[in-house]
Amino acid sequence: MTQALYRKYRPKQWDTVIGQDHVIQTLTNSIKADRVGHAYLFAGPRGTGKTTVARLLAKAVNCLSEDPTKRPCNECDHCTAVNENRFMDMIEIDAASNNGVDDVRDLREKINFSPSQGKYKVYVIDEVHMLSGGAFNALLKTLEEPPPHAIFVLATTEIHKIPATVLSRCQRHEFRRVPIDEIVANLKTIAASENIQADEEALTLIARQSAGGMRDAQSLLDQLSSTGTKITLALAQQVLGTATSQTVLDVANSILDHHPAHGLETIHHALDSGADPRSLARQIVEYLRGLMLIQMGNAEQVEATREVKTQMEAHAKAFTSTDVLRMMKIFNNAATDLRGGWQPSLILELALAEVIDAPAEVVQVAAVAPRTKPQPVSAPAAESKPEVTSDASPNGGAQPVVESPVINANDITRAWKSLVNALPKAQANLGALMNSVRMIDVQGKTLVLGMASDVLVEKLNKPDQIEIIQRLIKDHFHVDLSVRCVVTNAKGKLPTHVAQDGMVAAAIQHGGEIVDMDE
Ligand SMILES: Nc1ncnc2c1ncn2[C@@H]1O[C@H](COP(=O)(O)OP(=O)(O)O)[C@@H](O)[C@H]1O
Ligand SMILES: [Mg+2]
Ligand SMILES: [Zn+2]
Repeated sequence: MTQALYRKYRPKQWDTVIGQDHVIQTLTNSIKADRVGHAYLFAGPRGTGKTTVARLLAKAVNCLSEDPTKRPCNECDHCTAVNENRFMDMIEIDAASNNGVDDVRDLREKINFSPSQGKYKVYVIDEVHMLSGGAFNALLKTLEEPPPHAIFVLATTEIHKIPATVLSRCQRHEFRRVPIDEIVANLKTIAASENIQADEEALTLIARQSAGGMRDAQSLLDQLSSTGTKITLALAQQVLGTATSQTVLDVANSILDHHPAHGLETIHHALDSGADPRSLARQIVEYLRGLMLIQMGNAEQVEATREVKTQMEAHAKAFTSTDVLRMMKIFNNAATDLRGGWQPSLILELALAEVIDAPAEVVQVAAVAPRTKPQPVSAPAAESKPEVTSDASPNGGAQPVVESPVINANDITRAWKSLVNALPKAQANLGALMNSVRMIDVQGKTLVLGMASDVLVEKLNKPDQIEIIQRLIKDHFHVDLSVRCVVTNAKGKLPTHVAQDGMVAAAIQHGGEIVDMDE
């Protein structure tokens, strides 16, 4: 088996470490001045050079070169031993698997033995935040009185988990994410010396995917080069799963067309066939970001195949930049929410509903795939269950007589959040829907819930869910209310059949989002 690229290209000298100049500067100065500390803490994202620099430090303090400015020389016995992973006095401990008190005690016993080869014994404790509380205490004792021949380098990706007592004993160095262009340059060098054919845009995509982690970038290059063919943007997109899929284009079209049913169908279809909801949300955001770049006149920064770019250009014209920003925000929030383990399809549905709800301003419908006329979905009638009435077309029908409410809508509005919280875990769906309620009113014995769109009315208006809401109200307020779900056209606008005074108006004037209404 050939050596992984990221091992092969581990920097062997200070000046080949990329993007951590602030750290290197301090360390090389102390080597030159022969003033090395006994405890270092290297903090920063994975794959940014912490272990690499720890090894450089171990090598430099033990280097046999006469000239301190040349350390590590990479030629002496000690340097070559470190480079070949056979230097006895550099001890790497993975705290993730050796995190107990006994492990640290073991270390403390061994630490008193003098170095066997070099001048210093260098202990590199990786992922040090994984140590148990007891182990940290034991480590602290060692850090308080380290033997003169010992140097500790603690490395962590999660500095906030390190006890202050330990932090205060260490010289701290923060490793930064490596900038994209520096990663690209590094990948280019590696590709050249490995005879890997790769397009620059493909390398840029790899760099972007690795979020500043050099190791990830090098591993991705490794993975892609193993296909044995030239690494083109299309290949990279395909392997990394970042290709703008038909799904994303279809979702964008459905938004443009105000065709929620089509959008929902697209999302369901993608999820059913195994698409990852988070990466779908991210792909949508990424696509919208492309539209934004085109709108700002930076089309050349968009990485996409020619066909996709043609579609993007048409969409960039069809949506206003305000729309694009708004959609980005909404789908970006959805991507974040998906981390919380909420029902993935629902979260995407809600995002789509929110986006479609405030109509996108269609400036120009040019050259974008064949489209159909806006076609609102109508909520199914739920007449079978008498206490549930559905009214998804607020502008039609006669104006009902407004009865005086049996309970103040204001009270329900205020209690809404706690009602949502009182839901059993299994009702996360319903919780999300209840959080999307934009308007609460009570007319006579009917609780009127305003939703942003037909899609949401349809989702909420299921007899079992309505029953749960009725039960919550009953438990909380001791009244029996029937529930009616209506479409609230847009923020601040009341459907014509809802009372124009009282709580509804008040609620909507407050910005309409019930979740934000804690007064
Ligand atoms: N700052 C950097 N400059 C150059 N290469 C790097 C850098 N950071 C990481 N690498 C590459 O990634 C590999 C793993 O880096 P490593 O130092 O183990 O990261 P960390 O310990 O921060 O997770 C290295 O062998 C090297 O190939
Ligand atoms: Mg490491
Ligand atoms: Zn040397």
